[in-house]
This record gives sequence, structure tokens and C-alpha cells, in this order.
Amino acid sequence: MNFDEKASQWDLNPDRRQRARAVAEAIRRQIPLHPNLSALEYGCGTGLLSFELRNDLAQILLADRSTGMLDVLREKIAAAQASNLFPIQLDLLSDPLPTQRFDLIYSLMTLHHILDTARILSLFWQLLKAGGYLCIADLDREDGSFHKEPFEGHLGFDRQALAKLTTAVGL
Ligand SMILES: C[S@@+](CC[C@H](N)C(=O)[O-])C[C@H]1O[C@@H](n2cnc3c(N)ncnc32)[C@H](O)[C@@H]1O
Repeated sequence: MNFDEKASQWDLNPDRRQRARAVAEAIRRQIPLHPNLSALEYGCGTGLLSFELRNDLAQILLADRSTGMLDVLREKIAAAQASNLFPIQLDLLSDPLPTQRFDLIYSLMTLHHILDTARILSLFWQLLKAGGYLCIADLDREDGSFHKEPFEGHLGFDRQALAKLTTAVGL
């Protein structure tokens, strides 16, 4: 899937904006957010979710491997003068791990694009401070109809299986 090409039109889709708002609300309900906490958003795209949460947290590192998504994100950060949002081009599966550790890691609609789920969860675990929180919002198991174009990732996840895997890697 070519996210570079999709980036300039990404935020025009109201479903994506609504999903980010709903997931931000769910995170607020379940995690004691605090303006002292540091967070990592993994697979941030244009930053829809972190823009919703930026006033609830001290600073957020927004990581994505797509240059196009990060270009749009940088423009949005500059326009909003969002001084606590820090974009970074990062693919944890091939790049060195950042040295920073986080109170909270969240990821929206990215996990199903990553084939080795156990590995990415294990890397999240390494990046979390002790007692930190991981929030994953992604597709429930589906029949392949979600992606309208050829797709090689996961057809969603079984929630219980994903929770079990999360525990198995140490979280
Ligand atoms: C479906 S988009 C979701 C973007 C954003 N979270 C949202 O909900 O609007 C998936 C994002 O994950 C990124 N991504 C996919 N695989 C990645 C990887 N291995 N490392 C970092 N980012 C990745 C893509 O570049 C893309 O921006």
C-alpha cells in the first residue's frame, strides 16, 4: 500500500477523522493521561490521533516510515504551532530503537500492516517505561473486504489472540 501517494488526501476522509476522535476518547477513558507523560504514536500517518491527544500529554513522538505522511504531518504541526509534537521517520523493524522510553505507546490502524506482530509488540515493550501503557486500535478479524486494493497484511485480529500475544512478549 503506497501511503506516500495517499498522504495529501488522507485527512479529507471523515471516517478517519471520526475514528481518531473516537479512539482518543477511548484512550482518555481507560488511561490516566497527565500533562507530564511522554508518548510514542507508532504509524502516525498525518497525526490525526496525536492532534486529538496533544493537550493531554507532555510530548509525543510521532513515528511513521512514510515520507509523504510525515511531510503532511510537519505542515500541520507548523500551521498549528503544535510545539509538543515531534515527527520522526522510523521503521522499528529495520531502524535502531530510539533511546527514549515512553509512558504511553499508541497505534491506530497500523498493526495489521506489520506482518511480524510478535516482534513489533516486543519492540513496544522494550520502548515502554516500567508501568507504561500500550494502546492498540486496529481491525477486528475481517474477510479481506476492508482493503479495496491488493493487500498483504493481516485481515484484522482476534482480540483474545492479540491480548495473549501481548502478554507472551512481556506486556
Ligand atoms: C492505515 S495508516 C494509519 C495512519 C494513522 N494512524 C491514521 O489512523 O490515520 C498506517 C500507517 O502506518 C505506517 N506504517 C506501516 N508500516 C509501518 C512500519 N513498519 N513502521 C512505521 N510505520 C508504518 C504507514 O506508513 C501509514 O502511515
